[in-house]
Amino acid sequence: MTTALIVAALAAAAGWLAFQGRRETRRLHLTTVEVPVRDLPEELDGFEIIHLSDLHLTGYGPYEQDLLRALRPLPARVVAITGDFLGGPIGAQALIPMLMEIGRDRVVFGVFGNHDYRPPVNTEALARDLARAGVRLLVNDAAVVTERGRRLHFVGVDDPHTGRADVERALAAVPPPQGHEREPVILLAHSPDVFPDAEGAGADLILAGHTHGGQICLPGGFPLHTNTRRVGRRFSAGLVERGGTPMFVHRGIGTSGLRMRLFCPPEVAVIRLVRRPGLQQPPSEPR
Ligand SMILES: [Fe+2]
Repeated sequence: MTTALIVAALAAAAGWLAFQGRRETRRLHLTTVEVPVRDLPEELDGFEIIHLSDLHLTGYGPYEQDLLRALRPLPARVVAITGDFLGGPIGAQALIPMLMEIGRDRVVFGVFGNHDYRPPVNTEALARDLARAGVRLLVNDAAVVTERGRRLHFVGVDDPHTGRADVERALAAVPPPQGHEREPVILLAHSPDVFPDAEGAGADLILAGHTHGGQICLPGGFPLHTNTRRVGRRFSAGLVERGGTPMFVHRGIGTSGLRMRLFCPPEVAVIRLVRRPGLQQPPSEPR
């Protein structure tokens, strides 16, 4: 009888976890993070970037519509998508209309992730679709955005997880400054594994994804697995800083492997560049 009760309790717990885990994959959070940038020109104080990552798009259903609804009221005019666009062949059909909607009245930058180089994804077709949708794909390359007369550089590296990132080449694509004011550099990379190469290399902020924040976490968001090779668990999600280089790691929009999340909901992140540190979310120092 006792054994039967234990089995029943375990089955109930497993069922509850599966239900919660599935539900959490659709519970989109809005994360706002202030990042202090050294000598940020006054005109760029408060400049916002919408950061999305790991769409792993499988279709154009209610969850994707929720995502678009969440993005619509946001005033930021730049979107950075840090790789892993597709989760299957149907996702490829949904990608262009999704990205066109995301990019309406906005500049969208993208970088490739490891899944963008892996079957069933056709990387060349994906690059063409991204271009068609108006996404500026940065493959070890850089682009300029001008806001209130001040320039801001977006640098994108190819996928670090599969060893394609070339930080030096990407930063070398940044044109020289036009005046005496600093021109901030935002580096986009799929994986936080870029950090050892990018730390102290000249980027004011790194935006990355890939980890899904762990996807399956213990209470409090402690990740069981982050799929990183060169950085530890403290780089799995949120804003971290080391050696004066801040990095925000996005928890992702979609899932890969298990279609569930625990204590690690998907997010839309708004990154706000500020001249002085904010009071709400100071960067944490990785161990
Ligand atoms: Fe990835």
